[in-house]
This record gives sequence, structure tokens and C-alpha cells, in this order.
Amino acid sequence: MTAVTVRVPAKINLQLSVGPARPDGYHELVTVFHGVSLYDEVTVDHADRGTVTVSGEGAESVPADDANLAMRAAAALAKAAGLPPRRIPRAAPATAADGSGTGPGVLIEIRKWIPVAAGLAGGSADAAAALVACNELWRAGLSVAELAEIAAGIGSDVPFALYGGTSVGLGRGERLTPALVAGQYHWVLAFATGGLSTADVYRTCDRIRNNRGIVVAPPKPSTELMAALRSGDPAEVGPLLSNELQPAALSLRPDLRRTLAAGREYGALGGVVSGSGPTCVFLVADAQRAVDLVVALTGAGVCRSAVRATGPVQGAVLTSPTEVSG
Ligand code: C5P
Repeated sequence: MTAVTVRVPAKINLQLSVGPARPDGYHELVTVFHGVSLYDEVTVDHADRGTVTVSGEGAESVPADDANLAMRAAAALAKAAGLPPRRIPRAAPATAADGSGTGPGVLIEIRKWIPVAAGLAGGSADAAAALVACNELWRAGLSVAELAEIAAGIGSDVPFALYGGTSVGLGRGERLTPALVAGQYHWVLAFATGGLSTADVYRTCDRIRNNRGIVVAPPKPSTELMAALRSGDPAEVGPLLSNELQPAALSLRPDLRRTLAAGREYGALGGVVSGSGPTCVFLVADAQRAVDLVVALTGAGVCRSAVRATGPVQGAVLTSPTEVSG
């Protein structure tokens, strides 16, 4: 039997501009996604029925059944690829007790380092990893572009997790154009206790804008940020980080103001809430300053924990088709 393992990165948003709500409830975005070196690992293997296991960071709050985004992605791939039943054993009826469900016959093991509901697209990353891993396990032969189409149906951030790098995301965030970026950037990710619901943060954003009588214009890419990214100079990029969901995240989690202020005080070149939060991300000049900022933020007690990461990094990659005897 051959298990397949895929490693997949977290994303942060260097720009997140939010347009008005669309008739389908989603918001038109212009965002700059950036893959960073904080990874989950997903291993898939043949099984008699669909089963998900989750371990590591925040595992207890991830559904280990058919609702899991990775299992939904595997089911969507099986359907899109039209795989014959003999290649995907028929699933047993759902039995909540052991986490097995009605998805395709596949065992999905998720090992998490990306915190859950943190604005880092961890669930989307796991879904992207499952697509790449199952495509290999089942020898389905879909191209990355074909996987990206399936990915967009699972969640707005899933296509980016397939590619990684730095990309401008349009539409719900699923329409991607690679950005030209020089150099490597050093980041500190400050994790908060608890998570935020993405849908709640978007709703709060709408409410704040409504209360303030703000007329929302269509979002536009920041030419200044794109130029700064091409220059490769973190001192230019830092002040241009922006996130229009930040006021909403701060109104739901006022404690994050202290985290952002501490990052600035301890010398970050820029800092923002990542995506819908509550993780705060800080850009620093080099690896040593990242170490220093991790220590300072942790010591100041303004976050649950903090880690260093670099970016951009590539998206979901196979790390091991491991031969297992038996
Ligand atoms: O696409 P995804 O499932 O990741 O989105 C989660 C929720 O975030 C959506 O149900 C929606 O409420 C909100 N969202 C949005 N506009 C976007 C992306 C997400 O309103 N462009």
C-alpha cells in the first residue's frame, strides 16, 4: 500500500481590500496572498471508508468527519475525476463515534501546526493538500489548474494554497495572478487565544461601514505595494501592509490592539491582522530581528505564542509517497 504525504503552507494577506457584499453573500476582494513557512501535513491512504484524523495545534476544534474541508475536497476530486468505484472503495454508512463518514474510501491524517480559525487559511491549506495527495494516491492525473477549479468550490482561499508564492487574488479571492516579488521576507506570527469566524468578521465589517455611512468603492490593487514587493526591500513593504477587515477584527477582539502596538514598539517594519484574524503578522528586517521580536512579544504577554516564518514559499507539495509493507 502506498501512503502519500503533502506539506502545505499557511497564508498571510499583505493587502486585503474588501468591496461591497455581492448577491451571493461573498465580498468582492482584492487581496495579496503570501505563503509563509508554517506548514500542515496531510497523509492519505486507501481505506474501506472515509476517515479523518486530526492531531496537533487546535486539533480538538477541527471536525473529524465529512464536514472536514480535506474530506470535502477528496469527495469533490473523486466526483470530478469520475473515478470508477473499484478505485475508490464504497464508503460505509456514517458512524459518528469513530469519525468515519460517507466520503470516498480514503484515510486522511492531518497534522496541524497552522492554528485553527486564525486568519491563516489552515483549513483551506488542508483541503488543498488533500486534493494534491488524493490526485496522486488515485493516479487521477488532474493538472494543477484543474485542481484549482475544484479548490475554488471548497473555499475562497483553497486555490492559493495549491500554488503558494505571492499572488493577487480577485473575486472571492479565488481568481489568482502571480505577483513579481524579489527576495525573502522575515515574518513574526503572533497567535491569539481562541479564533474568529471569518463570516462573523465580514458581517461586522459590513455593520461598521453601514453605521458610519461609508459608501464602499470597488477594491483596487495597491500599485505602491506591488512596486515595493518588486524592490525586495522590507522597509518599503512594511508601511504598505493593509487589511480592511482589521477594524472588524479589532472590534471583535479589542485585545489585538495591544499586540499590534507592541509589535510596532519592538521595531517591526509593519504589522497587521492576517485575513479575518486574530493572528497578527509583523514584517521585520532579518532573521535575527525576527528572533528578537518573538522573544519580546512573548515576554510582553500580548499573544498566546509567537513564531518566525519566511515567505514567499511554494504551495502544496508532495513530500513522500511512502512504501508501506503489508
Ligand atoms: O470561502 P470561505 O468558505 O473560506 O469563506 C468563509 C466565509 O467568509 C463565507 O461564508 C463568507 O461569509 C465570508 N467571505 C466573504 N467574502 C469573501 C470570502 C469569504 O464574505 N470574499
